[in-house]
Amino acid sequence: MNQIKVQLDSRTSASYKIHIGLDIIDRIGVLLNKGNWINRHIIITDSRVNTLHGERVVDTLRPMDLKIDLIDFPAGEASKNIQTSLRLVENLMALGADRHTALIALGGGVTGDMTGFIASIFMRGLPFFQIPTTLMAQVDSSIGGKTGIDIPAGKNLLGTFYQPQAVFIDLSFLQTLPDLEFNNGLAEILKHGIIEDPQLLTSLEEEIQAVKKREPKLLEKIITKSCRIKKRIVEMDEKEGGLRRILNFGHTLGHALEAESGYTISHGQAVAIGMVYAATLSEKLNYLSSMDRERIESLIKAFELPHRIPRDLDTKALMSRLTKDKKKEGALIPFILLKKIGLPFINGEISDTIIRETIEALKA
Ligand SMILES: NC(=O)c1ccc[n+]([C@@H]2O[C@H](COP(=O)([O-])OP(=O)(O)OC[C@H]3O[C@@H](n4cnc5c(N)ncnc54)[C@H](O)[C@@H]3O)[C@@H](O)[C@H]2O)c1
Ligand SMILES: [Zn+2]
Repeated sequence: MNQIKVQLDSRTSASYKIHIGLDIIDRIGVLLNKGNWINRHIIITDSRVNTLHGERVVDTLRPMDLKIDLIDFPAGEASKNIQTSLRLVENLMALGADRHTALIALGGGVTGDMTGFIASIFMRGLPFFQIPTTLMAQVDSSIGGKTGIDIPAGKNLLGTFYQPQAVFIDLSFLQTLPDLEFNNGLAEILKHGIIEDPQLLTSLEEEIQAVKKREPKLLEKIITKSCRIKKRIVEMDEKEGGLRRILNFGHTLGHALEAESGYTISHGQAVAIGMVYAATLSEKLNYLSSMDRERIESLIKAFELPHRIPRDLDTKALMSRLTKDKKKEGALIPFILLKKIGLPFINGEISDTIIRETIEALKA
């Protein structure tokens, strides 16, 4: 089992560990029991993860001297809202949850974001643990302490920064993950490699088939590397003051593509296209070599992620989505570009014309 310590603000001594390994669920009882102010745990999960894994997790944890309950909500992004949160809070009340209760988020990013959000405000804050079960949640959403839910005006607009007590990444969950969800997570791993770690890209290039076969030992290595990159960036910039924005590489256009397609393009697919787009912009503006741009594009193709903007998405509509990006500053759209692989920077001075032309050039 690998361990990564996340050391946040040294003044508040906020720090926690990420545990990564195969079948580690059966070893986490002790770790969950660590704080003696916690006398019970309530798992929050979605309907799909509950069906696949709920019973196994409860059966594993219960004999470890833990008082465990489980509540669930319908799987899917559509549940990540205030109505579901209120219903879950009512369930917590009915179970008699109090400030000695810890919540456990068992599931993907939807479960983690919403459980973290509830934990951060229920009775002014309960401790919570993350057991991420999608690759996306394991390498991205479970690390960094961003919680949130969607409102009609947009995604993740209601949320908090709230850190878990610990994160348990058990690779065994990945065996039941559909290919589309697995590839979504791969897109974020590629992103971590592109912005921080050319060596991670080399490992991925060398082991494409083994990654696709989800070989646990290899995945453990890659997930650990990927988590380390995210944690390093988060440690330097917990509240997204500046540096952390490089994690948005590929996401500026990515978010526009997701929204403009009515969310028929998944997040990982949108980010994959967005990364090719950001690399192409970087090359066009003479920051990035064509060799690096090609390397990024080949990897994305090799993992069966899309690399072109679907023709039916209207350029004008995408442009207007880009100016509405909630992370925008001033009138210009900031993009995360690359000087080379491992060297990203923020550029908010690209002309509309170049942004538009590059969208057109990348249409399939
Ligand atoms: N907090 C952050 O920093 C952060 C970062 C990235 C993404 N996010 C959020 O994460 C969410 C996306 O996360 P996601 O892709 O994990 O979505 P998700 O939680 O909806 O999971 C995707 C699907 O996979 C199913 N699933 C989960 N684990 C499974 C398993 N082991 N086997 C089979 N099926 C399984 C789920 O039931 C769901 O249907 C978005 O809401 C996004 O905003 C947050
Ligand atoms: Zn993302």
